[in-house]
Amino acid sequence: MTGQHDGVGQGVAPPASSTDLATVLPPAEPRRSAVVCSGLTYRFGTHTAVDHVDLRIERGETFGLLGPNGAGKTTTIRMLTTLLRPMEGSVSVLGIDAAAQPMRVRRMIGYVPQLLSADATLTGRENVELFARLFDVPRKVRGDRVEGALAAMGLTEAAGRQVKTYSGGMIRRLELAQALVNSPRLLVLDEPTVGLDPLARTDVWEFIAKLRETADMTVLMTTHYMDEADTYCDRVSLMHRGSIRATGTPGLLKAMLGDNATLDDVFRHYTGGTLDDNTETGGIRDVRRARRTARRLG
Ligand SMILES: Nc1ncnc2c1ncn2[C@@H]1O[C@H](COP(=O)(O)OP(=O)(O)O)[C@@H](O)[C@H]1O
Ligand SMILES: [Mg+2]
Repeated sequence: MTGQHDGVGQGVAPPASSTDLATVLPPAEPRRSAVVCSGLTYRFGTHTAVDHVDLRIERGETFGLLGPNGAGKTTTIRMLTTLLRPMEGSVSVLGIDAAAQPMRVRRMIGYVPQLLSADATLTGRENVELFARLFDVPRKVRGDRVEGALAAMGLTEAAGRQVKTYSGGMIRRLELAQALVNSPRLLVLDEPTVGLDPLARTDVWEFIAKLRETADMTVLMTTHYMDEADTYCDRVSLMHRGSIRATGTPGLLKAMLGDNATLDDVFRHYTGGTLDDNTETGGIRDVRRARRTARRLG
């Protein structure tokens, strides 16, 4: 979680005057939230996919956006990552407005999309190098960054092999390494473990958790798996039909429902109980997409 680093530490003699103070302390930097959405809205035709979403994610949090298929999670994330322009409202990342300065926002973000993005005919290392060039990682540090990202995801030994020899869990970790290569301040993961078996899912999460301990990074993720959200998220939002229905720590949200409530109960309470909430064709498309992803992950 975020800590307060402002103010003068104990044992430091107070400066003689306020003029001195300005030279001793670093320039005042407001503690910016990692993500702020205000009235964020997006429509596909007449269908409102994201409906006036207000959301604040603090720096250093692991935040879960939960909701059934079609709730609007991916559309929210695509606005945040500057791939879609908000139709109403705004979203800012570390104080930078995504619509006004998309390139600045992109440089601060690592994004693992719902669809797979690794090239099976390249080696793991080549895939990560490709992203390093795409993200304009300076040449001098590129090699170190690539090796660092591979190591952080436990892929150093497999890095020289073609990706088509990787297991599903390894491919997901490779995609994480790709997203990490530009040292993002905000890591955005859309359904990072869909289609993986329980062991591979745990594996992916353990690597993300370890990363969180070493880097000053905020993680925003979507998932269908309530057990994952419960274990790994500091806070979650329940999204349903384009709106945020509840936000809080998993513990608080469960406690609000009753003594033995699980996060599954919370999910059902706020989303009407189904994993698939589409009134339109999107549901089927999303399920097909998830199946395709699952097949590719093997
Ligand atoms: N490219 C698109 N064209 C038309 N409708 C879309 C498109 N993408 C998403 N939608 C619709 O917007 C709604 C929200 O979708 P999405 O953000 O993908 O939800 P989630 O990620 O929560 O499953 C759904 O009803 C979906 O069918
Ligand atoms: Mg989605």
